Amino acid sequence: MTASALIGLQWGDEGKGKMVDILAADADLVVRCQGGSNAGHTVEVGGEKSVLHLVPSGILAPEVRCLIGHGVVLDAEQLLKEIETLEARGVQVAGRLFVSDRAHLVFPVHRALDQAQESKRAKGKIGTTGKGIGPAYEDKVARCGIRVGDLMRGQDLEGRITRTLDAKRPRLESLGCSVPAVAEMRSFAEEMGRRLAPYVVDGVEVVHAARRAGERIFLEGAQGSLLDIDLGTYPFVTSSNANIGGLLSGSGLPANAVGRVVGVSKAYTTRVGSGPFPTELEDATGNRLRERGNEFGSTTGRPRRCGWFDGPAARFACAVNGVTDIALTKVDVMSGFEKIGFAVAYEGPDGQRSESVPGSVEEYAAKRPVYEWLAGWEGDLGGARREADLPASLLDYIRAVEDYCHARVRWIGVGPGREHIVDRGEA
Ligand code: GDP
Ligand code: IMO
Ligand code: MG
Repeated sequence: MTASALIGLQWGDEGKGKMVDILAADADLVVRCQGGSNAGHTVEVGGEKSVLHLVPSGILAPEVRCLIGHGVVLDAEQLLKEIETLEARGVQVAGRLFVSDRAHLVFPVHRALDQAQESKRAKGKIGTTGKGIGPAYEDKVARCGIRVGDLMRGQDLEGRITRTLDAKRPRLESLGCSVPAVAEMRSFAEEMGRRLAPYVVDGVEVVHAARRAGERIFLEGAQGSLLDIDLGTYPFVTSSNANIGGLLSGSGLPANAVGRVVGVSKAYTTRVGSGPFPTELEDATGNRLRERGNEFGSTTGRPRRCGWFDGPAARFACAVNGVTDIALTKVDVMSGFEKIGFAVAYEGPDGQRSESVPGSVEEYAAKRPVYEWLAGWEGDLGGARREADLPASLLDYIRAVEDYCHARVRWIGVGPGREHIVDRGEA
């Protein structure tokens, strides 16, 4: 059985949570592979909204098992809160959710560092979520991180804590952050370890046992391709690989196991935090998209920057991830515009046109979008379930996305609920 992967094609918040929830109905195991509680994945079932930060969005499909893979940086307190909230709503989590022993932990000291660094940046604020993601990945790469398995085995936990604090001490002090005492951090870590213990597994073994048993594995991406640490608009990016490579390395699944790569994109574009955004609309049209699309961050509540669909950025994301199918969400939000902008190229200050996403953030910030104007559509699309229910001008728009991105749009999102979807079926 081949596995599927799902990736965000923009700057996050494309509607991945909703799509994973829908597609999990055909999965046995859903794996979160990277990122951490910076993610906010919204799933709406029967009018009830859940925002998941660490728990995979497959959890609301009752038969599905969920794994938090080793590529995730895990804030144990946040996870335990999320589990409590889900269980209070009657969602069975125990016995269905597993956490990889190789996943690195996010501690309160990481959150403090993230927030202090961000507030000290005068110019060039990244607009991080303040969840400690960057500092936790820094520790992982610097080889002074603490992993979930370290809490289980208790081996030299004190030594590990001392080393990780020593590595950060000068920076914490220079930022005016207090350095936690080793004993205090140790008792916190031990408590987290006790409470996490029922969920902890060898994640690689879980993935491969599922593969050997012929189960259907679904890899859930977080963030978006343009926020990827290598492929995104660096340095205005997150600290993990949000592309297909990050999903493989973060789960332990080999590349040749994945047969389908679903790329999720809004029919327009949004971005939270700083960084270039060529199609941004800082006018009444942008405000209208924000209000109609309820574009406020699922994790931080910040207003999202809004703009037209960015063809070059979406095509870049489809190419680097090998997207086989696109899910185009929120077409219902775009109802009522007479004309819709579709960026087909960028133009630099020298008037030179290009269709690629430049590596230099300064160069990208200087680009202006070149639009093709397509006819808009009207009406409430919330009831559409089949292609035939969609207006002809929307179908033209979908074709324009397909032609530009060289990938088929299989799913079309017409509202926030699980039922608000048009599935065009296999090609
Ligand atoms: P994610 O991070 O990619 O999972 O996306 P978020 O949950 O952060 O943001 C997407 C928002 O759009 C959520 O509020 C969803 O409920 C909502 N949403 C997803 N798909 C659709 C859709 O097709 N139409 C509408 N109106 N809302 C949608
Ligand atoms: P989901 O999975 C949107 C953005 C932040 C900031 C940058 C770095 O819900 O799509 P970080 O806290 O990761 O160090 O912040 O990345 N960011 C997201 N934006 N959706 C997300 O996740 C995001 N995760 C991080 O706003 O600009
Ligand atoms: Mg989100």
